[in-house]
Amino acid sequence: MTLTQDELKKAVARAALAYLVDGEIVGVGTGSTANCFIDELARIQHRIRGAVASSEASRQRLEGHGIPVFDLDKVDAIPVYVDGADEINAALQMIKGGGGALTREKIVAAVAAKFVCIADGSKLVAVLGQFPLPVEVIPMALGHVRRQLAAIGGGTPVLREGFVTDNGNLIVDVKGLSITDATALEARINQIVGVVSNGLFAQRPADVCLLATANGVQTLTAD
Ligand code: A5P
Repeated sequence: MTLTQDELKKAVARAALAYLVDGEIVGVGTGSTANCFIDELARIQHRIRGAVASSEASRQRLEGHGIPVFDLDKVDAIPVYVDGADEINAALQMIKGGGGALTREKIVAAVAAKFVCIADGSKLVAVLGQFPLPVEVIPMALGHVRRQLAAIGGGTPVLREGFVTDNGNLIVDVKGLSITDATALEARINQIVGVVSNGLFAQRPADVCLLATANGVQTLTAD
């Protein structure tokens, strides 16, 4: 029996529950796979103290299930952060931000002791970059950032039309990249004045990837 992509997402969301620490706060990501995780959390919510959300959309979904949502600055520790990815490689470096929540995702991931990435098998790639790399930009810096991104070369920066982040900023998607040194590119883009953050999660990759395949959920750790 072939599982649909939705069923694969549900399978990894369920598998991620094994990483929760009872009585503690869980960091919760954004996107369709993270939504499956939130729905799974609802079933076992008595086990956790509550959640920190990486977006307003995830906050609303968590609260809709009656799960307490804490502001990050009210929380001392997050043992585990669970989130999806747009692409992930064998080193567990990721491109994220297809949903535009990259900056808050990166902040919650930075606080978390462990990052558990949940993804269906289509997200595993040899080289990052086929998925456009999202960059969150302060609106007044848009022209400058686009020119600087174009000067880096290798990709085409395109404004995500009609989209504003939870932080009131814009997203530029850099298309057509082939990223061989994700850590260096992440740092280089962050150096551009007016960039808030970019969707490369290489300096802080995932610690574990739960990958849903036709043969079941595989657990990947970095090479
Ligand atoms: C949200 O901004 C993203 O980083 C998501 O984690 C990523 O786009 C994965 O989303 P899906 O689970 O919907 O593919």
